[in-house]
Amino acid sequence: RPRVLSGIQPTADSFHFGNYLGALRQWVDLQRDHQPFFFIADLHAITVEQDPKLLRERTLRAAAQLLAMGIDPARSSIFVQSQVPEHAQLAWVLNCLTGFGEARRMTQFKDKSAKQGEGAASVGLFTYPILQAADILLYRPHFVPVGEDQRQHLELTRDLAQRFNSRYKKTFRLPEPYILKSTAKIADLQEPTAKMSKSASSPSGIIEMLDDPKVSAKKIRSAVTDSGSEIRFDVEEKPGVSNLLTIYSALSGEPIAALEEQYAGKGYGAIKGDLADLVVTFVTPFRERTLELLDDQAYLSAVLQQGRETAGAVAEATLRDVYQRAGFVAPT
Ligand code: TYM
Repeated sequence: RPRVLSGIQPTADSFHFGNYLGALRQWVDLQRDHQPFFFIADLHAITVEQDPKLLRERTLRAAAQLLAMGIDPARSSIFVQSQVPEHAQLAWVLNCLTGFGEARRMTQFKDKSAKQGEGAASVGLFTYPILQAADILLYRPHFVPVGEDQRQHLELTRDLAQRFNSRYKKTFRLPEPYILKSTAKIADLQEPTAKMSKSASSPSGIIEMLDDPKVSAKKIRSAVTDSGSEIRFDVEEKPGVSNLLTIYSALSGEPIAALEEQYAGKGYGAIKGDLADLVVTFVTPFRERTLELLDDQAYLSAVLQQGRETAGAVAEATLRDVYQRAGFVAPT
């Protein structure tokens, strides 16, 4: 079975609908006929300052949410990045293969460091994509299911894999990004030309999966819509309505064209009301299940321990090859 790998940062109390529709839903689907490795990227989280207590809590909440949305530990390895030390070890080797200018071109670093002022940004933030490349290459996956914002990191990953393979010996598989066009970039409800983002969006622009469903419904009803009143999918002219149509279609399974027809002649209020109901129906059981799982810490730990073992064995074997090929003397 082809392998898939992906990760998510534990930097918020809840995943949001961008994470879910852009990536996590594909994780759940791909489990069926792939060999999956899914992890919580706590090493990536500390590229910006985190409160340790909160980071620990959010890591467990992330694990509970993955299980609640249908990641099945019998099919998938679910683990915590910092518990598999090979991620950081391979990242060092890849750091030494990456050009400074090459790293500097990464747009996420540019955006995030611009916010803090480049001098204040950590070196970890700068090498973030290289750690991500290590995360991926260790497992030699065929596919990496992510949202559009990760595409550039995937390209760097492929470049580094190729560079290592040609400098030493073929070691890494070149992974393919798995990005679903329709949901690759879910927009902020208040600022529909920007992506929904836990770091950049205002609270009213994000639908959080663990929010009180009533709050989520209210956010949808007060989403920014466009001038005019026609319900039509047109990202350029009508980014707000198009985003609502995208979310609606993804959750209901109805094609966008059918929704346009269904809402022809009706106002924005009608589609917002129906979408709000749809979201409430979706998040209510998800939220209950997550809270139940969070009450069962023993089960969560057992799942993460099992994931660590399966992932650790694969990571260890890859790193051994890498160290040998790089010319490091093996311990006896
Ligand atoms: P993170 O934690 O920011 O987001 C997790 C996943 O959600 C996707 N996503 C979105 N998709 C569509 N629309 C949006 N508005 C939206 N917001 C977020 C992201 O693309 C991502 O797939 N660097 C990664 C974590 C990571 C990783 C990896 C991913 C670390 N190592 C290795 C894949 C492979 C990140 O920060 O994702």
